[in-house]
Amino acid sequence: MAWTERQRLMLQEMGLRVWALASSPAPVSETTAAPLAAPVSRAAAPQRAVQLRTVSASPSPQPAAAAVPMAHAGGDADARARHIATLDWPALREAVAACTACGLCKTRRQTVFGVGNLRARWMIVGEAPGEQEDLKGEPFVGPAGQLLDNMLHALGLTRAEAAPERQVYIANTLKCRPPRNRNPEPHELAMCEPFLQRQIELIRPGLILAMGRFAVQALLRSSEPVGKLRGRVHRYHDVPLVVTYHPAYLLRNLADKARAWDDLCLAAATLAAAEDRARRA
Ligand code: URA
Repeated sequence: MAWTERQRLMLQEMGLRVWALASSPAPVSETTAAPLAAPVSRAAAPQRAVQLRTVSASPSPQPAAAAVPMAHAGGDADARARHIATLDWPALREAVAACTACGLCKTRRQTVFGVGNLRARWMIVGEAPGEQEDLKGEPFVGPAGQLLDNMLHALGLTRAEAAPERQVYIANTLKCRPPRNRNPEPHELAMCEPFLQRQIELIRPGLILAMGRFAVQALLRSSEPVGKLRGRVHRYHDVPLVVTYHPAYLLRNLADKARAWDDLCLAAATLAAAEDRARRA
C-alpha cells in the first residue's frame, strides 16, 4: 500500500506497523441492503475470553410494525427488544429516531444512528454522541472523531464511501447525547442496547472494535478496565472483538496512542486471518 504523507505522520506519531488491504465490491445503501442470510449466530464460541450474553436470534426482518411496543418508557422491555430484533434498516432507523424509551429523548437535538458501509467488515462501536454529534446527527465528528479518522486512515480504512473492506461502519452504544456529556446511565444503556444489537446483526461485520468502557460493557458484559481487556481477541457471539481505548481518552493520554495502534493492528491481523480461513474453507 502507498502511504500518504498524512498517514506516514500518523504512523510516526502512533507506532510503526502498517497494514495493506485487498479490494472489493461496492457499498450498499440502507434501503437496498438486506440482512445477510444467517443472523449473528448464537453458537457458543470455542474460546471465549469473557462471559458473553445471549441475544435472541432474529427472524427475517420486517418493515416497522404499525404498533411498535418501543417508543415509550414503561413498556415491556423484552417485547420491545424482540420487536427491534425484527426490523430492517429503514425501520430500525425510524425506530431510533422516534425512540422515547429513556429521558435522553427530552434533551437530544436529534438521534445519532450510525454511519458507514452496511456490508462493512469493520464495525467500530463508541460510547455516546457529544455536542457536535448531536448537532450533526453523525457519530464521531468532533475532535475524538478526527483522531479516529486518522487512525482508520493509517490502516487504509475510511468512513467515507468505499468498498466494504475499506469503509467501516461506526455506531455508538447510545444513540442520544447525555446532557453535558455525562456518563451513560444503566437504564439508558439497557434501552439502547437492542438498537446496537440489531445494527450488528444486520451488518454481520468480520470484526468489532469496541472503544472505551461503555462499548465494552454493552458488548462483553464486562466491567474490567479497558487496559485489562485490550491486547487479545474476544468474541461478540461469533464475531471477533478487539477492545481499545476511546479516542477521547487518547486525546488526554498520548502515551496510550501506541497501545491503541497495536490494538488496531491486532484487529486488522485478526480479520485478515479469519477471512483467509474462510477463503480456504
Ligand atoms: N464519543 C463517542 O463515543 N461517540 C461519538 O459519537 C462521539 C464521541
